[in-house]
Amino acid sequence: MNTATFPEGFVWGVSTSAFQIEGATAVDGRGPSIWDTFSADRAESCDHYHRYQEDVRLMKDLGMAAYRFSVSWPRAFPDGSGKVNPAGLDFYDRLVDELLGSGITPYATLYHWDLPQALEDAGGWPNRDTARHFAEYAGAVHDRLGDRVDTWFTINEPWVSAFLGYGSGIHAPGRKSAADAFRSAHHLLLAHGLGAQALRAAGAAKVGAVLNLSPVLTPAQVSDVGRPLSAEDAEAVARIDTLVNRQFLDPMLRGAYPGGLLPIVERTAGLGHVRDGDLELIAQPVDLLGVNYYTPLVVQAQPSEPADPAFPGSEGVLFCTVPTAVTAMGWPIVPSCLSLLLRRLATEFPGTELMITENGADFVDVVTGDGIHDVERISFVEEHLRAVRAAVQEGVKVRGYLVWTLLDNLEWADGYQRKFGLVHVDFVTQRRRLKDSALWYRDVIKRNGLTESRPKRPTLETVAARARVSRATVSRVVNGEVSVSPEAREAVLRAVRELGYVPNAAARSLVTRRTNTVVLVLSAPRQGGDQLTAAVVQYVTSMLEGAGKQITLMLADTAESHRRIVQHVEAGFADGVVLLPPDRGDTLTERLARTGVPIVLLGKPAIASLVPYVDVDNTGGAQAATQHLLSGGRRRIGMVCGPMDLVATQDRLAGHRSALAGAGLRPLVAPAELSRASGAAAARQLLGDDPALDAIFAASDQLAIGALQAVRESGRRVPEHLAIVGFDDIDAASVTTPALTTVRVPVADQALAVARLLLSRLERRHTESVVLPTRLVIRDSA
Ligand code: FCB
Repeated sequence: MNTATFPEGFVWGVSTSAFQIEGATAVDGRGPSIWDTFSADRAESCDHYHRYQEDVRLMKDLGMAAYRFSVSWPRAFPDGSGKVNPAGLDFYDRLVDELLGSGITPYATLYHWDLPQALEDAGGWPNRDTARHFAEYAGAVHDRLGDRVDTWFTINEPWVSAFLGYGSGIHAPGRKSAADAFRSAHHLLLAHGLGAQALRAAGAAKVGAVLNLSPVLTPAQVSDVGRPLSAEDAEAVARIDTLVNRQFLDPMLRGAYPGGLLPIVERTAGLGHVRDGDLELIAQPVDLLGVNYYTPLVVQAQPSEPADPAFPGSEGVLFCTVPTAVTAMGWPIVPSCLSLLLRRLATEFPGTELMITENGADFVDVVTGDGIHDVERISFVEEHLRAVRAAVQEGVKVRGYLVWTLLDNLEWADGYQRKFGLVHVDFVTQRRRLKDSALWYRDVIKRNGLTESRPKRPTLETVAARARVSRATVSRVVNGEVSVSPEAREAVLRAVRELGYVPNAAARSLVTRRTNTVVLVLSAPRQGGDQLTAAVVQYVTSMLEGAGKQITLMLADTAESHRRIVQHVEAGFADGVVLLPPDRGDTLTERLARTGVPIVLLGKPAIASLVPYVDVDNTGGAQAATQHLLSGGRRRIGMVCGPMDLVATQDRLAGHRSALAGAGLRPLVAPAELSRASGAAAARQLLGDDPALDAIFAASDQLAIGALQAVRESGRRVPEHLAIVGFDDIDAASVTTPALTTVRVPVADQALAVARLLLSRLERRHTESVVLPTRLVIRDSA
C-alpha cells in the first residue's frame, strides 16, 4: 500500500485547554475565572487535574510527539496579578515532567480564555492594564517551566475572546459592546507583544501565538474558489476577512493595522486605546504561528442586513449557510480551504513557520458494545491532512499538526454535548475509551502519513467480470448453493481469492431476496426544514451504512415522482423507507404502507396511522413559549401562524391556544406562509387589529424575523414595547438584533432517532413512535 508521507520530523499531536479539561476548579488555591462565573455547566469536566498521568499515558500509547496544553492563569495568580500561587503552578511542573518522561514535547499556551475573574472585575480586556498583568503572568510561568518547555504560545484565538466575549456576549464574560470588543482585541494583541517580550527576555526558545483563521468566500466560491466576484461581494468578503483574519495577522506580522479596519474601529470605539508605540510592541518576532482552522466563513453582500454583533462593522453582509456536509456544530466541512489558507499565509508572510494547532470536529458518537466507530471524524481529519500535505508539497512551511482534541470535554458555551475528542469520556465514571479515530490517528503517526487512497473494495461485479460469469452465479457460489457447475464454481472461487473479495450484503441479497437498500424520500423542505433535511441525510446515511445498508435518495416533489417511488418499493428494490416530512393531503405514506415494506416517518402524519414516526413536542414547545411571554407580564399576545396543512403548525397553534386558555386569554391569530415577508405582513395585520399588542409568538423563526422587522418599522422597540418568540432555533435566530428567543428543536437527535427506528423495524423489533422534547432558548427578544 502506498503512503502519502509527510516530511521527516513533522510533529504529530493533540491540543487541549485548561478550563475545558482540568476540572478541580477550587483546589490548591486556584481563583475563579470568567468561565467559572459565566458557565452554567459544572466544570469538573474530565478531571484531568487529577488524571493527567492516565491522559499522558494515552497519548504515549497513541504515539504522540507533541502535546499543546494551556496554563490556567487563575491557578498561577488567583487574584489575576500580584502574588504567585506556587501550588497552582506545581500542577504544570508535574504535567511537564510526565510528558517529557513519556517522550512527548510540551507546547504551552498561556491564555486560552480563562481570564481571572478579579481582572474582569477590574475592567477585563477592554482595560489596558490586563495586558500588563498578562506579561507578568507569562514571566512567572516561564520561571517555573522555562527550563523544560521550549515552545510558548502567548494567546489563543484573540478574535473569539474579544468578539464573542465582549461583542456578541455568547462567551464569557458575556458583555455586549462593539466598542469594548475592539478595545479587547487591541489589548489582547498588546498582551501578546508584551508577553512575547517577557518570554524572550527570560530565554524562551520559541515564541508564537495561535489565531483562528478562516478563509472568507461567497457561497458560489465554496465549490469554485477562483470564481470572480461582483464588486459588492468582493467588498463584503474583504471586510469580513479584515475583521477576522487581518485584524490580528497584520499587526502581529507586519506591525500595522489593515487600512480597512481603522475607520470601523474609529467610528465604533474611537482610537484612544491605540497608543503610539503599541504596534511596534505587538510586532514581536514570531517563531511559530499557530493556525486553528475549522471552517470557512461564507458571506455575500446584502444591503439591508444589520451588523452581526460578533462582527461589528459587518452591516450589509449576509452570513450564509451552504449546502455542504456539516459537522454536528453545523460548521461546513471544506478541507480545501485549509490548503487555501496555508498557501495564502505562505505568500503574504513568507518565512513564517506554521503549525496547525487545532483542527477537528464535533460529531454525534454512538457508543456500541464493540467500540465507537466515529467514521466521520476519521474522514474529517484525513481530508484535512490531505489538504495540509498538498500545501506542504508546494513548499509551505507547516511544521506539525495537532488534532483538536484529546478528550471529549467542556465545549465552552455549548457545554458537554459537543464531542471533539479522539477519546470518549464518560462524565459520570470518568472512564476514557479510545474511539476508532484515535486508533486511526495512531497509525497515521506511525507511518508518518496517510495511505495513498483508500483501497477500493472489490465488488460482486468485479468478481463476476474476472470469473466471466453472471452476478447471480457469484452470489450462488458465495452463498454455498449447489446448483452451479464445477467449472463456474472453480472460476468464481479463484477470482474471489485473487481479488481478496469479502462477500457482503449485496452478494447475499440475491439469494435472501433482501436488497439491503433503504430508500430515503425527501420532499422540498418547508417548516425550518433545510437544517433538518441536511441532518437527516447525514445521520440516516451514516448509521444505516454503518449497519451495512445502502441508501437510495428519492425526491418526492411531484405526483409523477410519487408514482415512481411507490413503483420502486413495490418492485422489491428496498427493504425499508424513511419518509419526510409528510404534508396533509399526501397519500404517499398510505400507498407505501400498503407495500408491506417497513416505513418510518419524520414528523407526525396528518391522519393517524400505524406507521411509526419521530417528531418533536411542538405542542409543548408552543406552550412553553407562550407561558414565557405570560410570565413576563405580556397579556395581548398575537400569533403569526404558519400554513395549516403542516401538522407541526397545527400542533404549535394548539399549544399556544392551550397556554392562553390557562391564563383566561383568547388567541389572536394571523395566518402566514413560511417566508419572512409573510411573517412581516402577518405581524402588521396583528398590530392593526390590536395597536396595544405587547407580544408575538411566531410559528417559525423565519416568521419571527419577519415580524421583528415589521414591529421595528412600526416604531416599536423589542422587547421594551413588544416581545417576540420564534420556533426552531435556526442559525439566524441568534444573530438578529435583538437576538431571538425561540424554541429549539433537537435536529440531530431527530435524525438519529429516525435512523434507529428504521433499524429496529428492519430487525422486526417492536417499535413505537418517538416524540422528542423541545427547549426554550431565552435570548433578548422576549
Ligand atoms: C476553538 C477553541 C477550542 C475549542 C475548539 C472547538 O475555537 O480554541 O478551545 O473550543 O474551537
